[in-house]
Amino acid sequence: MALDINRIRQDFPILNRKIRGSNLVYLDNAATSQKPKAVIDCITNYYEQYNANIHRGVHALSQEATDAYELARKKIQKFFNAKHDYEIIFTEGTTESINLVASGFTTLVKPGDEILISQMEHHSNIVPWQLLCERTGAKLVVLPMDKDGQLRIDLLDTLLTSKTKLVALTHISNGIGVINPIEEVIQKAHAVNAAVLIDGAQACGHIQPDVQALDVDFYVTSAHKMCGPTGVGILYGKEDWLNKLPPYQGGGEMIKEVTFEKTTYANLPHKFEAGTPNISGGIAFGVAIDYLNQIGFDAIAKHESNLLQYATSELKKIEGLKIYGDVPNKTALISFNIEGLHPYDVGTILDQMGIAVRTGHHCTQPIMDFFGIPGTVRASFAFYNSIEEVDALVEAVKRAKKMLS
Ligand code: ALA
Repeated sequence: MALDINRIRQDFPILNRKIRGSNLVYLDNAATSQKPKAVIDCITNYYEQYNANIHRGVHALSQEATDAYELARKKIQKFFNAKHDYEIIFTEGTTESINLVASGFTTLVKPGDEILISQMEHHSNIVPWQLLCERTGAKLVVLPMDKDGQLRIDLLDTLLTSKTKLVALTHISNGIGVINPIEEVIQKAHAVNAAVLIDGAQACGHIQPDVQALDVDFYVTSAHKMCGPTGVGILYGKEDWLNKLPPYQGGGEMIKEVTFEKTTYANLPHKFEAGTPNISGGIAFGVAIDYLNQIGFDAIAKHESNLLQYATSELKKIEGLKIYGDVPNKTALISFNIEGLHPYDVGTILDQMGIAVRTGHHCTQPIMDFFGIPGTVRASFAFYNSIEEVDALVEAVKRAKKMLS
């Protein structure tokens, strides 16, 4: 069934904003999604009604907060179809989740081992592995892209060897929107006994990954790109892998027993959850998942695909406009430049007309280097965007071109 966009938009108070007199057209969803009232109310309700620390108190508020937090973990488990709720580790977000795994692998790799990433990774899925390689003497190997912005999957058989200990790959490129064939990569990596971490930061607001069907070892994402709050995300890890990794941070709640001679660690998930977490954020993450489920991922995919097709065909009519990553298998994200114009200038003019896009390298400098450009203008869509907003974008880009040429 088609989405009732007008009704859905009423759930998002911010979409009523005016920017310099124009209606806000929010097309920076790849940076962060907007939040429905249900998520905003959940956070307010937590602080007004049951703010307390979790897993610590016998008092009623602490128990209510603990129950709500653990219920959110279960909702997230169900969303990803993880086998156990303790395979879901709450973190600050995708970046921390990747750093947690990269830090843990310090004890699992030796000089000469290899970590395979790709040329289209976000810096968050590059730098933690570089740091791991610096610490251990392991080598970073990079799977390149082709001229269309797709991964050279044909090179996997050569690049994956018995030296490969882990493959870290983005599910969907935040820079150009390309969806990667992660199923094939996971299968091939497992054939050489390498673990696989998938960076799902750009994926989970648009598609629902099934971690058991994928047979992925680690899957990471952030709540804030899925209608949830900032500062909270998850690491999904297979139980065996999480047991192999040492704790990431030491502190309260991650221990069984502490003495000055020796400390023993708590079971999963608490072993990786030192300190007081983002409690309201975790609970609101669960509410964001309820909200997305209620809209339905099939309907989201269909609507976003319509937006993508329409926006792509209209933008392509503009002379001199080039789209990067213009391939069939992509999410509703269009990264483009207009010949002779700097992306920053185009973005600034769009902003004058109330249209929010991201400009620059999008934390993917290797992609920009590959295409030989300083950056792009990136319009990224969500299920609450309308066809009229695509029209507004296209008109604004035409105007920007006229003004700047
Ligand atoms: N990684 C986010 C983006 O692509 C912030 O904009």
